[in-house]
Amino acid sequence: MKTIAFQKCINPDCGATYDVSQTLTSCQKCGELLDVDYEWSRGHLPGTLRDFQQRWQNRRFPLDYSGVWRFRELLPFAADAMVCTIGEGQTFLQNAVCLGHHLGMWPGQLWLQYEGMNPSGSFKDNGMTAAFTHARIVGAQRVACASTGNTSASLALYAAMNGFQGIVFIGSGKIAFGKLSQALDYGARTLQIDGDFDACLARVRQVSGQLGLYLMNSVNPFRLEGQKTIMYRILESLNWETPDWIIVPGGNLGNCSAFGKAFSELLKLGLVKRVPRLAVINADGANTLYTLVNKGLKWNGGRPDKGMISAFYKEMAQKDIHPHTVASAIEIGHPVNLEKALRALNIMDGVVAQVSDEAILEAKALIGRFGLGCEPASAATIAGLQQLMERQIISRHERVACVLTGHGLKDPDATVYYHTGINTKKAQLPPAQPTWGHLSNQPVKVADDLDAIVQALGLESGTLDESHAGYVETKVDLPLVEY
Ligand code: F0G
Repeated sequence: MKTIAFQKCINPDCGATYDVSQTLTSCQKCGELLDVDYEWSRGHLPGTLRDFQQRWQNRRFPLDYSGVWRFRELLPFAADAMVCTIGEGQTFLQNAVCLGHHLGMWPGQLWLQYEGMNPSGSFKDNGMTAAFTHARIVGAQRVACASTGNTSASLALYAAMNGFQGIVFIGSGKIAFGKLSQALDYGARTLQIDGDFDACLARVRQVSGQLGLYLMNSVNPFRLEGQKTIMYRILESLNWETPDWIIVPGGNLGNCSAFGKAFSELLKLGLVKRVPRLAVINADGANTLYTLVNKGLKWNGGRPDKGMISAFYKEMAQKDIHPHTVASAIEIGHPVNLEKALRALNIMDGVVAQVSDEAILEAKALIGRFGLGCEPASAATIAGLQQLMERQIISRHERVACVLTGHGLKDPDATVYYHTGINTKKAQLPPAQPTWGHLSNQPVKVADDLDAIVQALGLESGTLDESHAGYVETKVDLPLVEY
């Protein structure tokens, strides 16, 4: 018998189930979030995770090429013929030896899962391939999302490549231009509405229900099925060994929720023996999860203290508090997957930290200085790791995998601001250097003249012989480690 997929309410007191052919973003009985759940058939599962590796030999077949569908027996809700894939998930886990050393970690213990290598430049493609596959199953034609940028870029790309009409809602003035340019280029109808991401999402949820648009935000449980595969690829890169920690930025909390689900299923199926710990990192200007967890909010067997959650949101509204962070991707005050994130923290013995914008930008520059470009939200992982090491929650000998969620070219304004102090977006940003920005790499204005260039490079006139060819001494004093 094949594995049977269905949708199920996460509330244990409800537990309503729905067919996968239904388009739902919440339980019709109690309003809670839904999971895609399975009655697993052992006969259709690999004996070990290692068996998935063989798919690499068959990479001409699109489903085996995809870093999501290579693991299709672990998200078995669609027939192969229905899958919408554009080759997502060709992402790699980089052993960040020099960065790890710089942070004081034991050699080889820091790993960066670089999701910026996806077709639209962020981890969203992992989820979008799964949600578009479901949209095709239910016969949807028009798909919509609210977005801080990456969801809209990914939606627009998948819509363009798979024959759907894409509609994206973005908040006014918040979106990084790299992301906006993608949505526009891929032809998505782009509606910029007054308000922040939270307002956009509330509106698009209402509108999609009324207008029959298929909703692609992470309240869509099928999206999270695709995002589980980020964990499978980390395990695969570590030769199927479980790391000690997974660190991920927290915005709408879809990713961390998907990671918790991935590991709870792998454990249940006997495919892993051990689950890593989870660290979710909020920006301190958008710290709902951090605040609530530190007030004692817990999954509590599926019965979290809803009174505490609603009192928190009520206070936010009364005090007119809106999220604000340089990491615009995670500038979210009402994370829709809050309860699933609590569940993930429970499954993975997780912690939540908050980091400042300054720490995020410094961490981003550090990641860049060691050769990987990521956007500010992604750098929250390294800022979080630094803090958690200082607080002795993560120790230097533990093996840590940080998920770099989006490519550095998504938000060049943030990078230029860090290095030059030029605020291209005229946005409210943390104070410019010299208070921070110790890795700042200012472009130097120089006359079009050999002597001036020699001087600017710090070389003495007349020393431009063979021995200096191609060598410029860097002013940044970072330990470049030899291994
Ligand atoms: N990192 C990046 C680069 C993101 O774009 C997002 C979310 C996150 C982290 C947070 O992930 O929501 O799963 O906790 N971006 C969404 C968007 C909200 O609309 O693009 P999460």
